[in-house]
Parts: sequence; structure tokens; C-alpha cells
Amino acid sequence: MRTIRTVTELRAALAVARREHTRVGLVPTMGAFHDGHRSLMRRAREECDVVVVSLFVNPSQFNEGADLRAYPRDERADAASAAELGVDYLFAPDASELYPNGFDTTVSVGRIGQILEGAHRGRAHFDAVATVVTKLLVITSPDAAYFGQKDAQQVLVVKQLIRDLNLPVELVVCPTVRDLDGVALSSRNLRLTPADREQARALKRALDATRDLVSGGEDDVARLQSEAVAELTGSGAQVDYFQIVDPATLAPLTTVAGPALAVVAASVGGVRLIDNQPIT
Ligand code: PAF
Repeated sequence: MRTIRTVTELRAALAVARREHTRVGLVPTMGAFHDGHRSLMRRAREECDVVVVSLFVNPSQFNEGADLRAYPRDERADAASAAELGVDYLFAPDASELYPNGFDTTVSVGRIGQILEGAHRGRAHFDAVATVVTKLLVITSPDAAYFGQKDAQQVLVVKQLIRDLNLPVELVVCPTVRDLDGVALSSRNLRLTPADREQARALKRALDATRDLVSGGEDDVARLQSEAVAELTGSGAQVDYFQIVDPATLAPLTTVAGPALAVVAASVGGVRLIDNQPIT
């Protein structure tokens, strides 16, 4: 595996792949690899001839400086992990490579980026995600890009931007990977104390309880949400939202009469976690 720092170098490396008409896969990441990232890399390895993993902690998508500073970074371990999985190129640019002096263009995401996470973190969050993802897609020109379902809203934002900007790339969405205790894998989990971890389990419990209530015939979203919020707050989590939404648009539902997605954001011990689960 080769670590590449510049856009020019990556384009030159991929020019060979392009000439040979090979399928290129991109896995965009911010590093601190866990099994969720590794599942994306494995899938890309299975489906593509050339696999590029980008590792860039994108400063503009963090709405809090403290969260950016606390974000775990270990490029050496990440590179070893990617190499073990057969990744061809680790693209790990400095911020000045992606955002040189004078950088002044941002992708602006519409409705899909302004609700849920966008409402809580500010609309600049998904604008920043969409901007860096667009840059990575343009720089790499992959045939397929791999994202995790854990960030369900991010997936829909990327889907929308691929459609709206006519980007010639297939979006591959891979299932959420969980620890044995049900907690969805996230780089932020490293910051949970054992007590926080206990509270973090409430997110999956609330999602499962909602799914079970729906299976048992409950279809009233207000009642389902209030049960879930009670489970979360009772466990000590601070709830930003627990909503039952349309999986394609994230529009809030009032009754569950078809496909639905339960989405949750809550903080435990000052660490903000998100999760989601189809409930039909
Ligand atoms: O999901 C992430 O790790 C980031 O939001 C992404 C897609 C790499 C953009 O910085």
C-alpha cells in the first residue's frame, strides 16, 4: 500500500488504473479505523480492482472546536490496518492540500442537510461534508464510493449530491457494524468511560424497543417516540432527538404505515452519539 499526500500524485497513480479500465473504489474516512471502516474497505476490496481510502479529518464539518481537537488520530495504525486489508492507496492529505489559501467555494446542501443533524449541528456541517466528499469524488473519480448506513443522513446527503451534480459514481451503502453489546461502532466510542458505555447501550435498546412495539401493532409515532425517549433519559443519556422518519426523505411520520427509520442522537458523558434502525 502506498500513502499519498497530494492530489497530483493520486491522480498520476490512478491514471494507470484508468488506462487499464479497472474499477476504482473510494472509501472516504476521517481515520481512527474500527471494524465499521474495515467492513467498507473489505467490501471495496471485493468489488474493485483498485481501492483508495482517504484519511482526512475535515475541520470544517466539526461544529465544536473541542470535538475536533478530541477526534482520535493514529495514522500509523490506520495505515497498517488498511495495508492488511489490501488497500492500494491511502490518500492522507494535509488540510492545506485540500483547502489551499484562497479556497472559497462550498457545496450548499438543501433540505436534507438542514434537518435532524443539520438542525442540531448547524447547516454548515453537511455543507462541509458535501464539499469535502465532492472534492474527494472529483479528485479520485471512483466507479464506486463506500459509506456506512450508521450515518444515515450523510448517506442521503451524498446520494442527493451525486444526483444533483451528475457525479458518475455508484454509491454503495454498507450495514452498520455493532459491538457485542449493541453499540454502533464509532471513532467517538474511544472517548466513552465504562459508565458512559453502559449508558450508550440505551440507544440500541430504544431502537429495538421501538421496532418491537411496531411489530406488536403500535403505529402511533408520538407514543413510540415518548417510550424511546423515556428509555434513553432513564438510562442517563441526554437526548437531542429520537424520531421516526421516512427512510428516503427523513420527513417525520405521524403513524407507521410502511417503511420507516428510527433515528437517534444523544450524548453520554459529553460524547455525542448517533444511531438508526429500520423499524418495519
Ligand atoms: O463519515 C465520515 O467519516 C466523514 O463525514 C467523511 C464522509 C469522510 C467526510 O469527511
